[in-house]
Amino acid sequence: MAQIGKGFPEGFLWGGATAANQLEGGFHEGNKGLNIADVLPGGKDRLKILATPGFDFEIHEDKYYYPNHEAIDFYHRYKEDIALFAEMGFKVFRMSIAWTRIFPKGDELEPNEEGLAFYDRVFDELHKHGIEPVVTISHYEMPVHLVKEYGGWRNRKVVTFFERYVTAIFNRYKGKVKYWMTFNEINSGLMMPIMGLGFAIQKEEDKYGPTFQAYHHQFVASAKAVKLCHELMPEAKIGCMIIYAPVYSYDCNPENVMYALEQENIFNYFCADVQVRGEYPAFIKRYFKEHNIELEMEDGDLEIIKEGTVDYIGFSYYMSRTEKKDKSDLEGITGNIMQGVKNPFLKASDWGWEIDPIGLRISLNKLYGRYGVPLFVVENGLGAYDKVEEDGSINDDYRIDYLREHIKQMAEAIEDGVDLMGYTSWGCIDLVSASTGEMSKRYGFIYVDKHDDGSGTLERKKKKSFFWYKKVIDSNGRDLD
Ligand code: BG6
Repeated sequence: MAQIGKGFPEGFLWGGATAANQLEGGFHEGNKGLNIADVLPGGKDRLKILATPGFDFEIHEDKYYYPNHEAIDFYHRYKEDIALFAEMGFKVFRMSIAWTRIFPKGDELEPNEEGLAFYDRVFDELHKHGIEPVVTISHYEMPVHLVKEYGGWRNRKVVTFFERYVTAIFNRYKGKVKYWMTFNEINSGLMMPIMGLGFAIQKEEDKYGPTFQAYHHQFVASAKAVKLCHELMPEAKIGCMIIYAPVYSYDCNPENVMYALEQENIFNYFCADVQVRGEYPAFIKRYFKEHNIELEMEDGDLEIIKEGTVDYIGFSYYMSRTEKKDKSDLEGITGNIMQGVKNPFLKASDWGWEIDPIGLRISLNKLYGRYGVPLFVVENGLGAYDKVEEDGSINDDYRIDYLREHIKQMAEAIEDGVDLMGYTSWGCIDLVSASTGEMSKRYGFIYVDKHDDGSGTLERKKKKSFFWYKKVIDSNGRDLD
């Protein structure tokens, strides 16, 4: 048995991670309203839509297939799925609540009882199996009505609507949920505002003023949620959630090192600085000045942000990013969805995401060194094509290798002194990819018979990694063979 250091602490939170829009389906059931994921098509156009100005947030059934409408039908199959998570020994299950199940349009005054009752059933089922839910309050699931009528998070009114939503779920689920996170990958809005900030860039200058105004509203909304959580559930923990990809300089040219640092500041630290330290960092003030950004704030906003700092940092880690200021002399510059340049020392997944387990140890050390609050790796995993053999088995050794190397680096980081609460690998059951809408980009320990064109029986099958992860959890991360 491969033993790593002293291993993981007692009570380490092993589990898996998902998001409502990527697994539930039932997009019209229980009075649910339309959310952003419901209007994003599958296939190649999704990434294009996310990256190009002018998206209309409409469904065009004549042109596209919408994979999130049925997703993997967790809405009806949650009992079967949770039993499988329990069989693997999950201590926690990361999921999100679809805002549109609770407030279908987003601006109603009263919550939708059917939606609230659905999550009661899910939480009860998890507890029946001894699994604690870890709940993301908003995971790329903003009501489309708020996008169309109000312009998404650019509009201050959305803070009030979000507060109403949060109050409803906190009051309903206090006692059932101990771990919360406010906005999934909050910093992703800097790259893809549609999913995180609820508006499409219409013209170039939207990237500046409106984006940061929307962020200000999210920070206030997040801080209010943190304060309310602490008041209503003093025993609960509430975190922020960011994408973290350490930024490496392409070489030791100070120009490139400085450029990498600037990218790291704005992308990796801006949101976390506000949410963990409770104030806008100095570097962003300079950035605002240089881009003529003046935020509209209400009296008391900065105090709310100061008082609503999070208890921990949840983050996703898939890859690192390598940066060079002047990229004109490099061919095939992009190694990653995170932009940047190709790192010659790393291999990439079939989707071009560079695989860098040591980058996870670096991330843990950097985040812990900067903030000194507990960390929680709430997403990590390999999106890959899986093959079902004739005998029905799925031998995903590549996934096991990926996860093993990342878990080893977490153990190293713990030895380095990092306070790490837990690990929930992404897409513990195959689900719809957020960036491409594909089913064929699979992350799961559990295979779901569903394909990119929507065909399939939805039958669940255990992959080889299912048995491997069970062993990892049983041994508290000591047996990684
Ligand atoms: C994160 C998101 O960006 O990465 C998830 O929080 C997403 O929603 C995951 O699914 C993996 O990305 P993708 O595009 O492969 O699904």
